Amino acid sequence: MANSLFRKKNISSIIAEGSDGSHGGGSLKRVLTVKDLTFFGIAAILGAGSFSSLGGAVFNGGPGVVVLFIITAIACGFTALCYSEFASRIPVAGSAYTYAYASFGELFAWIIGWALIMEYSIGNIYVAYSWSDYFTSFLDKLGQGLNMNLHIPAYLSTSYMEAKHAVTGGSTNADILEAWNTAPVMGGLKIILDLPAIIIAFLITCLVYRGIKESRNFSNLMVWLKMGVVILIILVGGYLVFSNGLTHNWTPPDDAGVRSFMPNGFKGVMMAVAGVFFAYIGFDAVSVLAEESKNPQRDLPRGMILSLVICTIVYILLTLVLTGAVNYRNFDGVGDPLAFIFEPQNLDIGWMQFLVAICAVVAMTSVLLVFQMGQPRIWMSMSRDGLLPPVFQKIHTKFKTPSFATIITGLVVGVPILFTDKTFVLDFTSIATLFAFVLVCGGVLLIPRKEKVAGRFQLPYINGQFIFPLIIAGAIVLAYSLSKTYFTGMFNMDFSADPDLASGKKTFMDLAIPNISLIVFWGFAILLAVLAFIKKYSLIPLMGVITCMYLLTGMSKSNWVWFIGWLVLGAIIYFLYGYRKSKLATAETATT
Ligand code: ALA
Repeated sequence: MANSLFRKKNISSIIAEGSDGSHGGGSLKRVLTVKDLTFFGIAAILGAGSFSSLGGAVFNGGPGVVVLFIITAIACGFTALCYSEFASRIPVAGSAYTYAYASFGELFAWIIGWALIMEYSIGNIYVAYSWSDYFTSFLDKLGQGLNMNLHIPAYLSTSYMEAKHAVTGGSTNADILEAWNTAPVMGGLKIILDLPAIIIAFLITCLVYRGIKESRNFSNLMVWLKMGVVILIILVGGYLVFSNGLTHNWTPPDDAGVRSFMPNGFKGVMMAVAGVFFAYIGFDAVSVLAEESKNPQRDLPRGMILSLVICTIVYILLTLVLTGAVNYRNFDGVGDPLAFIFEPQNLDIGWMQFLVAICAVVAMTSVLLVFQMGQPRIWMSMSRDGLLPPVFQKIHTKFKTPSFATIITGLVVGVPILFTDKTFVLDFTSIATLFAFVLVCGGVLLIPRKEKVAGRFQLPYINGQFIFPLIIAGAIVLAYSLSKTYFTGMFNMDFSADPDLASGKKTFMDLAIPNISLIVFWGFAILLAVLAFIKKYSLIPLMGVITCMYLLTGMSKSNWVWFIGWLVLGAIIYFLYGYRKSKLATAETATT
């Protein structure tokens, strides 16, 4: 049994299966170039993270959030290189799932495939909610300009759970209270739903079902538009920061009145990890388009890395413009920070506010599109391997898209919009994506090294035998010198003096999980350093594993509880179906 759980797919057979066109109705069309792939990357990356959650990130960390964008970009950069190595060796749809099948074996592959549902489908629920927020405010602004009432009632543009949580939590948010108080009641139930979010999920599903070429053209157009407006925000905002003499906002006074780039210290900056990480999710989605790329081995890595670099530059400049234009403290509770800086009390440019609202809607539409295209392609790969029913690999004879899997994706995104809320889906997405990134980087350590083939990407091998243990030792010394109680504090589980525990706001485990995460992290870091020394592991994947694991230490107890619950559910489904129906299982039976 244990052997069967770790049965691995052979890389050459994965490639052969991906291109033989024998999977229910023909293969996918190879139409995408490096430019298209880079555009897909940008389409997936630049969206709700920058347009919605940047405000909260800046409020926590001040201008110093720029540093976090750089750190996260480095972590994602290592991961992108690992994805690229796999994408170049295994250029078929399926992304991290397929890579795990070749490196860790079937059980891990299933777990990754299962976790990716959270990144692709559940993440899209968050984007759909944010899309709806901007779309309704765009309609309001348009209505004001045209002197018409285009307002969507709050109870038709708010999710039921968000309204319920806000009301029971004593929120004073006027829109949410309006939704709760004005909602019609049917059979004792308040009719509150986020209709624009449901409609956009439906429309995107139709577009993706219709075909890759049409989706590509639409996506490219949206990327041009959103990049154009983002560049305009940077130019106009940046110019005004200097011409209005606002550069002092980059070193605002902290609580003690001392001017600092990080007014809340590095701790404040690190509080923004989840939002900043979400802003980067998406570069990996490029890898699921392997079977639709003209030259996947050369172009997938280029597309991924180029899109990551472009978005990192954009994020750094946007953060600088935002924190220069307005004092960081004013971003408290601001959900549309890029439009906010142009409001009358700030830079005061009305037409920019309107343009940003349109751009946000466009940006998020393209994120939705890319993820909604990615999910069916992962399921298609899992179905080819027998881990999901054969119908998931059915390709539409006319449109050449994975039709059934596309419809199911639409349902998985659309239906939960009725009973989830933004915070919940955001947490779910981040933890699962980081988990998948750790396994992809770890997977690269396990596959055998290969001779360089001209024209193909190859991850440079830098021997981590001495460098990696030195980096870990350096990190330990740095952490200790920055805070002498850093390591002893991790083992202190006495929270009796914590006011949140006394008031019942937090439980013992809520408070203990951050410490436990750090203990596990440092233990793992030391273990990995030892392994790197013994096995001469490659430095880049080692850095990918360790940086993503560090970001995981920022996850809360409820994130872990939900995530582990999700994995257990996945394991049950695997043992009931995939374990027996897997193609490798069938092959094993045939040979015995
Ligand atoms: N990075 C994507 C966004 O920010 C998921 O919307």
